[in-house]
Formats: sequence, C-alpha cells, structure tokens
Amino acid sequence: MWRRHAGLVSALVGDLVDQSAVSADVDLEPGPSYTSSVWDADPALGRVVVSAEQIAKRVAELGETITADYAGRPPLLVGVLKGAFIFLADLARAIRLPLELDFMAVSSYGKATKTSGVVRIVKDLDIDLTARHVLIVEDILDSGLTLSYLRKSLLARGPESLAVCSLLVKRSVQPRADLEIAYVGFEIDLEFVVGYGLDVAERYRNLPDLRVFLAGEPE
Ligand code: IMP
Ligand code: MG
Repeated sequence: MWRRHAGLVSALVGDLVDQSAVSADVDLEPGPSYTSSVWDADPALGRVVVSAEQIAKRVAELGETITADYAGRPPLLVGVLKGAFIFLADLARAIRLPLELDFMAVSSYGKATKTSGVVRIVKDLDIDLTARHVLIVEDILDSGLTLSYLRKSLLARGPESLAVCSLLVKRSVQPRADLEIAYVGFEIDLEFVVGYGLDVAERYRNLPDLRVFLAGEPE
C-alpha cells in the first residue's frame, strides 16, 4: 500500500524524485479485496448486479462489434452526461477507429414531468451532426423517454446515420418503434442500480461494479 502512495507522491513532487526508480517498483494491481471491501461496508448497497469484470468483458465485445460495423465510416460518439461518462471512456478505447467524441447533458423536471417526456438540454453538442455517423452512448434505458427525446432532437440535425448504444436496458421497457437500440450491454431487472457512472443523488458513480441500491429509487 505504501508503494501506491510513494507513486502518488512522486507524481506530485515531479522532478524532486527519481521517477523511473519509483514507478518501476509500483504494483498497480487493484487487488479485488481492497476495492470491494469499501463498498461492502455500505448498508445502502445490495448485491452486485454486474461485476466490474463482466462489464470489462462486455465492453470489449461491444467495442469489437462497433469497430466492425463502423469500418470505413468512423462514428461520432455522443455521450449522455453524467451517467454514461465511465462507459463512454471505456467503450471509446475499445473501438479501434479514428472516432470523434462529444457530450450532451439532459435533465428532467422531476418525476411528474419526466413521465410526460419533457426533457431539457442542459449542455448541447459542440460538433455539427451533418453527414456524421452518430452513435448515442447512454447509461441506462428505463422508460425510454429520455432516449426518445434525444433521438428526435439529434435526427432533426441531419446526421448521415443515428444509432444507440446503451450499457443497460431495464426489462420492463416495452418495445417501441422509435427506440431501436443497436447495441445493448446488459438487460437487467426492474431494480434501481448504481455504480460504473450511475448515481443516486450524485453518489456511487465511482463504484466499480453495478449494484442494487437498497433504499429504493429516490423521489
Ligand atoms: P428514462 O427516460 O426513464 O429511460 O430514464 C433514463 C434515465 O434515468 C437514465 O439516463 C438515468 O439517468 C436514470 N435512471 C433510470 N434508471 C436508473 C437506475 O436504475 N439507476 C440510476 N439511474 C437510473
Ligand atoms: Mg442518463
């Protein structure tokens, strides 16, 4: 453990420490018991729904599929903040194409408004979509209203193509003609999950696994 700290200190003090001597010695293996024990102690967290290892394996598969599908027409990945930020970071590196990246942030006006499908764009894209192959990268599809709105909004901007990649899809989602999802990481049951970018009141985004949040969905 102290070696991990030694590496951090050397990064902070920079020139004062012989970098090569320290970094060659640092063990960067995360150590599964170290990462899980912190979260195991939290009574608000339930069982692991999808483990970090399962996520990594699936993200690599999705990356291979997308690489093959978009060969010769590199995509513009549109990450939907904030929930998709970790998934997007991993997925982008699993795609072996010279892709582009941009971000959108959307928010709903609370539960009542969300059910009516009204979504507000908090941060819009910087890149023009004309003639681009756009791939929306989402964290989770629940009712599908957020994605339905996003698709309509982005389609109106004249992309060459538009597809969706969602890490998670809740099984309750009814099939909808306007919500074809080309790439799905995992289908999960109707439970509120946190981790790997997904939050509850801005917490648990840095939890490496996806776990059930036991206190239920917040209002
Ligand atoms: P939808 O519009 O009902 O599909 O809601 C999708 C959005 O709600 C996601 O992008 C998340 O921000 C949030 N959400 C839905 N289910 C969960 C969950 O189980 N955990 C964390 N966030 C969720
Ligand atoms: Mg989201």
